[in-house]
Amino acid sequence: MSAELAIGIHDLSFATTEFVLPHTTLAAHNGTEIGKYHVGIGLRSMSVPAADEDIVTMGAAAAKPVVARHGGDRIRTVVLATESSVDQSKAAGIYVHSLLGLPSSTRVVELKQACYGGTAALQFAVGLVRRDPSQRVLVIASDVSKYELDSPGEPTQGAAAVAMLVGADPALLRIEEPSGLFTADIMDFWRPNYLSTALVDGQDSVAAYLHALDGAWKDYTEQGGRRLDEFRAFCYHQPFPKMAYKAHRQLLRNAGLDSDESLVAHHIGDTTGYNSVVGNSYTASMYLGLASLLENAQDDLSDRTIGLFSYGSGSVAEFYAGTVVPGYRAHLRVREHDEAVTRRRPIDYAGYRALHQLSLPEDGGEHAVAAQTGGPYRLAALSGHKRIYRPR
Ligand code: COA
Repeated sequence: MSAELAIGIHDLSFATTEFVLPHTTLAAHNGTEIGKYHVGIGLRSMSVPAADEDIVTMGAAAAKPVVARHGGDRIRTVVLATESSVDQSKAAGIYVHSLLGLPSSTRVVELKQACYGGTAALQFAVGLVRRDPSQRVLVIASDVSKYELDSPGEPTQGAAAVAMLVGADPALLRIEEPSGLFTADIMDFWRPNYLSTALVDGQDSVAAYLHALDGAWKDYTEQGGRRLDEFRAFCYHQPFPKMAYKAHRQLLRNAGLDSDESLVAHHIGDTTGYNSVVGNSYTASMYLGLASLLENAQDDLSDRTIGLFSYGSGSVAEFYAGTVVPGYRAHLRVREHDEAVTRRRPIDYAGYRALHQLSLPEDGGEHAVAAQTGGPYRLAALSGHKRIYRPR
């Protein structure tokens, strides 16, 4: 473990969508026994974006309180990770940079590798801060998870953005070295440029995730990482919350530890709160888990070590550790995050289906976008193939 300068997450804020679809509504439509959703995959509701919401509006909404608290002066890099981007060329983070009024002396870039992109962004941010500890990096992970209607993936949809300010002497989580890494060229989940919904072999992707966990953990230990019994809790990428449980049982079993359910619950239980009501938010998912853990753990997590496992289909995975900074509770955003999920308006099945099937005009004309979101930013119009974002 490096005894160098502490670098990590100084602030963390998330935003989600205007609408929410309870799984009871989906189950009533498709005849699924609700236990499969509530217990089998561990989901109660999913966030549904309004017509005028996307990764940019969510990303800006997540980052707004971070910039309000810390100012934008020391932010010299914005990295936005996503797998549901809005342009093949322009980085979505440039719209966010503009909406937030950040200085022009900033580099802005977009990163992609399925759900792993947020962790890549975070690690690259750590490297930039190590090079110049006076700088801060705004990392945004923002995604809309969308599968075909009536497909097995449909109940695992969701949407959210997490904004993290990465800097030296962080207030929340110190990120440790080493990382355990794993890459394999597979097709468990992907989305060709011409499709709006992802293609996935669900069961295959679960197996691929578990295989990647083995590989990343093996590398982590070979790189001199901590022992399993040194960790207080584990944040896993959560395509659906039960995946974290499956993964953790396997990690404990493979390490020769008893995967006793009370130990599994102690390690994982506090990390699933937001994911179980938001659904899959791809790049943001693991960091919603971290927010949930920091805000909900009853015991003081100061100086305790957290394991983080990030997985992106295709596939790349990383296991790394972070140590919680004493005094972290004073910097959490419990009230704002509670508000982000409770303010969502329930939508009925017909309304959800209409939004799922909505596609923006592609003719290059002038089009106003229906004003639906109550969030701070909206996609106001399309004009000559350009997206026009505005504060609400
Ligand atoms: N009460 C309680 N549990 C129930 C149930 C009921 N009435 N009915 C089913 N279940 C359980 C199943 O036993 C199963 O549990 P297990 O995984 O512990 O065996 C779980 O609910 C899911 O059921 P399953 O039949 O496997 O669901 P599915 O075939 O519809 O697919 C996914 C599940 C996750 C594969 C599917 O949602 C999917 O494709 N998701 C998108 C891809 C994804 O998230 N991949 C993850 C890795 S990135």
